[in-house]
Amino acid sequence: MTKTDLIIIGAGPGGYRAAEYAAKQGLKVVIFEADRVGGTCLNVGCIPTKSFARDAEIIQTLNNAETFGLNGLDYEFDFQKVIQRKDEVLSSLRSGIETLLSHPNITLVKAEAQFLDANTVTAAGEDYTAPHIIVATGSVPKTLRLEKPAARRVLDSSDLLSLDHLPESLCIIGAGVIGMEFASIFNAFGTEVTVVEFLKECLPVLDTDIAKRLRKTLEKQGVTFHMQSGVTTITEDGVVFTDKKGNAVTVAADEVLMAVGRAPRVFDHFSRAGFEYSERTGIVVNEHLQTTVPHIYAIGDVNGRQMLAHAAEMQGIHVINQIVGRADDIRLDIMPAAIFTQPEAACVGLSEDRCKELGLDYVCKKSFWRANGKALAMNESEGLLKLIASPQGEILGCHAYGAHAADLIQEVSALMCRHTTVEQLSHIVHIHPTLSEILQTAAEG
Ligand code: NAI
Repeated sequence: MTKTDLIIIGAGPGGYRAAEYAAKQGLKVVIFEADRVGGTCLNVGCIPTKSFARDAEIIQTLNNAETFGLNGLDYEFDFQKVIQRKDEVLSSLRSGIETLLSHPNITLVKAEAQFLDANTVTAAGEDYTAPHIIVATGSVPKTLRLEKPAARRVLDSSDLLSLDHLPESLCIIGAGVIGMEFASIFNAFGTEVTVVEFLKECLPVLDTDIAKRLRKTLEKQGVTFHMQSGVTTITEDGVVFTDKKGNAVTVAADEVLMAVGRAPRVFDHFSRAGFEYSERTGIVVNEHLQTTVPHIYAIGDVNGRQMLAHAAEMQGIHVINQIVGRADDIRLDIMPAAIFTQPEAACVGLSEDRCKELGLDYVCKKSFWRANGKALAMNESEGLLKLIASPQGEILGCHAYGAHAADLIQEVSALMCRHTTVEQLSHIVHIHPTLSEILQTAAEG
């Protein structure tokens, strides 16, 4: 039996960051990973999509080359080069993580770990015990049980990222974060993209007005959307859905992507540890990420809270702080998020719709990219930011779409963590000319 201070199951952003931080605090850590280090984010999520998104951005700029005085530009799109660059980015980051995990206080075991009981896990024929255990096993794509011919392949996001050819047409089921990012990317790559979404509007996490404007922008770029449409069958040729008028419609597509959410990755052996969990909602945790067995913690997608890499990382750091008895003021309730479409969208805190639902008194201050000097100089005039505050000026949230919206939202997150009011924000000097002035303009309005 190997004894250590801390066991971590899963080396995604939650697990590996927790291991690194714990090791720096002097804890001896054993971290288990059955697959490649880096988890969904690095291998089949955030990073490969951002590599593709950068290619898509360059293509869109080139498509507008004449606006920038580049006439008669001719280029050939080499998808193999795009894949190669993505793979190089991934392997460089993966080796960075392996270097982090080579810290003398960390042992990386490349094998699947299973609970034997609440204090012991086993992997590759060896048993391990520790006074603290963190479960960071991530999530898996959800699938709809739809009728389909056996030969018809339905892709999930990991499959789409590992295609070795560019599909001529792609039907995406679900206009959530994954659906919208891939719609934007593959449309720029030249694929004919159709999105079928059950709800009235895309991106349920975003302010509806902003989500609608973003969808319209993607529509202008060439993506076809069918909203309020439920997919019924997948055929040899494509996807059949019932549209909002009740008509059965068929979309022909070479490839079909299912992007209808992700589910926490839970295992039967969790029951041997004795904590509460379910397949649908994941491991039950309290505000300190403790499971119902207090020395076992669950961080990241597996606790079903916020399926975001940065949420997992900060949850892990908060757990380690508790283990070593270090107070912190990490605000896990202020969780910014971004959607890397072209242009990108981002949000933190309450939207205008949510304030209405909750019956809150609020003030909504708007600002547009088209009124910002830097945005016009960049030829990025599309965008809207909504700053939501209480009547007393407390910032409750901010939702935006437009070039570099994520950077603007990051500033709002920082201000919310430090209880800065809208008036104080309007008095903070912002560099001219920058997109950050869009936020200041909203605060002044
Ligand atoms: P999602 O929950 O964001 O969106 C799923 C969409 O599928 C919803 O709009 C839903 O109404 C729709 N849908 C469900 N059933 C349907 C049906 N039968 N027919 C048509 N539409 C249907 O889930 P998504 O996009 O799969 O993302 C999974 C998780 O990964 C999310 O929690 C997301 O936050 C995270 N993620 C975050 C990223 C980021 O931060 N940039 C990037 C990618 C994923």
